[in-house]
Amino acid sequence: MSTGLWIILDHLVALLGVATWFAAGVTLALRRIRPAFALLVAAVLVTLLRVATVAVLAGRGWWYVQEKVLLGLPMLAAAGAVAVLLAGRALLPARRGRADVPAYAVVAVLTAAYAALAGPVVTFLVGYPLTVGTALIVISLVGAGALLTARVVAPAARDAAEAGVAPAAEGRPAISRRRFIGWTGGAVVVTAAGAGTGLSFLPPESVTLGGGRPRSSRPAVSVADLRGAGSPVPGGTVRRHVLTAQKATVRLPSGREVDAWTYDGEVPGPAITATQGDLIDVRLRNADIDGGVTLHWHGYDVPCGEDGVPGLTQRPVRPGEEFAHRFRADQVGTYWYHTHHASHVGVRKGLYGTLVVRPRDGQRAGEPAAAEPVDLTLPVHTFDGVVVIAGRDDRTDHPAPPGAPVRLRLLNTDSDAHRIVLAGAPFRIAAVDGRDLHQPGEVSDVGLRLPAGGRLDLVFVMPDAVVALVVDGDAAGGLRLRPPGDTAGAPRLDNASDLPELDLLGYGAPAAVPFDPRRPDRHFTMVLDRGVAVVDGRPAYAQTVNGRGHPRIPDQLVAEGDVVRFTVVNRSLETHPWHLHGHPVLILSRDGTPSTGSPLWVDTFDVRPGQTWEVAFRATNPGIWMNHCHNLPHAHQGGMMLRLRYDGVTTPFDGSHGGSPRHGH
Ligand code: C2O
Ligand code: CU
Repeated sequence: MSTGLWIILDHLVALLGVATWFAAGVTLALRRIRPAFALLVAAVLVTLLRVATVAVLAGRGWWYVQEKVLLGLPMLAAAGAVAVLLAGRALLPARRGRADVPAYAVVAVLTAAYAALAGPVVTFLVGYPLTVGTALIVISLVGAGALLTARVVAPAARDAAEAGVAPAAEGRPAISRRRFIGWTGGAVVVTAAGAGTGLSFLPPESVTLGGGRPRSSRPAVSVADLRGAGSPVPGGTVRRHVLTAQKATVRLPSGREVDAWTYDGEVPGPAITATQGDLIDVRLRNADIDGGVTLHWHGYDVPCGEDGVPGLTQRPVRPGEEFAHRFRADQVGTYWYHTHHASHVGVRKGLYGTLVVRPRDGQRAGEPAAAEPVDLTLPVHTFDGVVVIAGRDDRTDHPAPPGAPVRLRLLNTDSDAHRIVLAGAPFRIAAVDGRDLHQPGEVSDVGLRLPAGGRLDLVFVMPDAVVALVVDGDAAGGLRLRPPGDTAGAPRLDNASDLPELDLLGYGAPAAVPFDPRRPDRHFTMVLDRGVAVVDGRPAYAQTVNGRGHPRIPDQLVAEGDVVRFTVVNRSLETHPWHLHGHPVLILSRDGTPSTGSPLWVDTFDVRPGQTWEVAFRATNPGIWMNHCHNLPHAHQGGMMLRLRYDGVTTPFDGSHGGSPRHGH
């Protein structure tokens, strides 16, 4: 069973535990002896079951259970043991109709219920990591709950105490009002102090070293000076574009109208293509996008000053302003561009386009062309729930002569993964995230997962029959490649949704990689979760990294030349497509299973619930780079983003990264 399912099962067992402990406490308070006894036994059994689920999760990784093992379970075990002793001692004779249930037994069982509740509350509100502050808050709240309960269920004792008389000598808890106020007041102070340290007093600017050397005193270089080359390679061309960001009503082929934010009035924006070594020269103008826009070159390892991150590498481009990008198209493959300002709104509304760079030597070796090649760039985007492929929301038919080499460049510009099926021809995945795979084998009858932000280049030789590309199981939509004259043919699609998903970690053949990832200079662990954290200066139910939200997640410091390793753990119930700017990362393993196929270099890897990914890269592109979840609402509203900072690089911009419209001043 996957770790994600164990996480869900553990949540369910925890909630069942809360329910049974509370039910036992309430029935006991109502002096319903038999049900109370049965529920108490059930609560104990569920608690033991919980120990088992937590033990399994612990085997999957300490990150998944830390707060449960250190706080939730011990607290429940202690309170539960006391409850069983006290209530059991009273219940056994009472069951035979011989005694009443004393108030302290009720208090003990309800206290165990509070302890049972506290565990999942900590898991949902705080998550990883557990801090001393959190533990103090929780223990004091459970204690306050016990005292309050004692006040309510032991009125006799209270009255006696208020009268200044010793309580009846039955061992009932006797709490005076003064002592009660003292204790609860104390709990409130501890809670406030804990919450304060947890939320407010963390330094917003700090670095983590990942086990490497601290900051040196080398002279600083500004990201604003890390700009691209001024000329193409000899024989190369300058690819000049002016992109104007503007609002537009876009009419899709089905007739549907979309109120879009666009580059040049089109969705997707103008396709930028180049041959390796050309110079990309793009001037971004903003006509009327009020908050501002930028151009970020997703997956393209441009010099940092071209990276288009507002508040970090440049100022956002306001209406009437412009920003000029220049960089050499050294990297071959399929990429895309999008705004990085309030991108959870801007990209969704249409501020994206494709960037495709083809090799200078033209046709790739080993592909004898019997007919004109077909090379289609297909960004998949969702507008108001409708999947739009390369700007079309209807089914697209495209002619393709039999024998023609076909390359379909799929891009996911959404925040959630898409499932792709190609039916009618065996094919290869030539490239992932723009980078060629080594000896990719032919596959058919597989589903492909295209993570948010990710790309897949599918290649095949056009057969003498129709080939269909199906997105998210929608057999009526998608793309058809048709041999000339074939107007009606269609491949079998009925099993498209049952096809097994191809695991890229075992696809293609191994090859040498340019560094030894087993000896990293730095190793950073990012535990992804949900919890209460400060995001952009205010508390939120955030998407957290190591318990914090942007910009309070410490920067990761690296030095040029370092081999850097990331461990990315997803404790949450949502998928987080993790994306590092400026560098492709090499996938080492997922859930402890090493990557055995072609070296897999990606800029976005989909960390699903309960997964643990190990990746590595060499720090060869100085700058300050965003490192974030590419589910853009997670990143820009939820706080799930941080920075990877090279030693000796500074930014003159305001440091807010312009991630959210709240910074749109
Ligand atoms: Cu595709 Cu930080 O971006
Ligand atoms: Cu996410």
